[in-house]
Amino acid sequence: MAETLSITDHRTGRTYELPIRDGAVRASDLRKIAAGGEDAGLLSYDPALGSTAAVRSRITFIDGDRGILRHRGYPIEQLAEQSSYLETTFLLLQGDLPTGSELASWTRDVHANRVSPERLDRLFDGFAADAHPMGVMIAAWAALSTYYPDARTISDEGVRRRQTLRILAQAPTLAAAAARVRRGLGPTRPPEHSSFVGGFLAMLFGEPDRPYTPHPVLERALDVLFVLHADHEQNCSTFAMRAVGSSHADPFSACAAATAALFGPLHGGANEAVLKMLSGIGDVRQVPAFIERVKGGGTRLMGFGHRVYKSYDPRAAIIKRTADEVFEVTGRSPLLEIAMELERIALQDDYFVSRRLYPNVDFYSGLIYQAIGFPTEMFPVLFAVARTAGWLAQWEEMMRDPDTRIVRPRQIYDGPAVRDYVPVDRRR
Ligand code: CMC
Repeated sequence: MAETLSITDHRTGRTYELPIRDGAVRASDLRKIAAGGEDAGLLSYDPALGSTAAVRSRITFIDGDRGILRHRGYPIEQLAEQSSYLETTFLLLQGDLPTGSELASWTRDVHANRVSPERLDRLFDGFAADAHPMGVMIAAWAALSTYYPDARTISDEGVRRRQTLRILAQAPTLAAAAARVRRGLGPTRPPEHSSFVGGFLAMLFGEPDRPYTPHPVLERALDVLFVLHADHEQNCSTFAMRAVGSSHADPFSACAAATAALFGPLHGGANEAVLKMLSGIGDVRQVPAFIERVKGGGTRLMGFGHRVYKSYDPRAAIIKRTADEVFEVTGRSPLLEIAMELERIALQDDYFVSRRLYPNVDFYSGLIYQAIGFPTEMFPVLFAVARTAGWLAQWEEMMRDPDTRIVRPRQIYDGPAVRDYVPVDRRR
């Protein structure tokens, strides 16, 4: 069977044979289909790129219809249960699980890079007292780029590896500093000998005279959540990382852009929005009325729906189990009952079933974060810390890809035809 697509252009009567490779035609082949004259050839119109493969990638596989997520071939369920966040970062970046000694030296290298430059501490003095930590985080990445000018030599593999370690390792340090702004506290350093996640929790919740030792169940739960958020192929923030990186900007600046993309409530801000929604509903008896409001188009059921997953989000199933473990330590959140009732009704309601809307990763993650003690505004920051691994892996892959060119989409121009400039005193 020929792997081609025949297209007849009825404007000209000409027929074209387009090769199909990996279930895709090259959009550039469409440009050969022209009506004549000044016509530069067909474009494909795809506003949210939902039907466009913009890259070839070997990192993450998703089958949205069957609820499958794999990193480098490994099912997310196995990674969440048996791996750790740092091991998963190695897997995403290097392509394979590390050996014991590779993992030990990777852990050492990451830990050795956790401390941010001291002068950067002053940056955190300049924000509003109630600054949203995502805004602080975006600024911190850009500020960090000024300390490592070598980062701009992006063609050098060794330089890229150095920045990758710095970004991955300092993400929790910057995130903790961003959180501390609202508590009126300056940045702090990860305690010596702390784990990656344990050190992060200690920086977040420690007081100058009261060090914080995380409960092992809560530390493990956060590590699992980090594994679940580490990468998700070509999502909005990863695309921002790739788009900015494609101009050969340094990776710190690209991370600032990716973090900004993640800030939105349709992406990384959704977990925060879920908690606000649950608090707003306030009582399980209000759930049916809220569902009716959603169905009437008055609001969205946050934490539901996904562009890719149309049966269930496999991360949501793991998170539900993790939530049970966390609540055994912390006690159940009163909002859990509201969340479960929302889910119960939505999963039976034709509005949600017919649109294939199921709980996504954010539906329960916020409740876990809240139980661990994170303030709501920190939720997207936690997502950003974990997703840094995916951004870097995708950026590195892009840098090695011979097909990479600066991202530059086309448009269909809908504006006015040419017209003459009219001086201001003659305009009506
Ligand atoms: N609540 C109510 N209706 C919804 C929802 C929702 N959460 N999501 C989609 N719909 C409806 C939407 O109104 C539309 O209905 P109709 O066909 O009648 O116009 C239909 O379902 C298709 O929606 P869409 O907006 O075209 O779907 P999309 O693929 O563009 O959007 C989404 C995906 C995740 C942005 C969307 O489902 C949403 O806004 N969900 C709530 C926010 C959320 O939880 N985001 C986190 C996503 S997972 C974490 C991440 O990867 O960032």
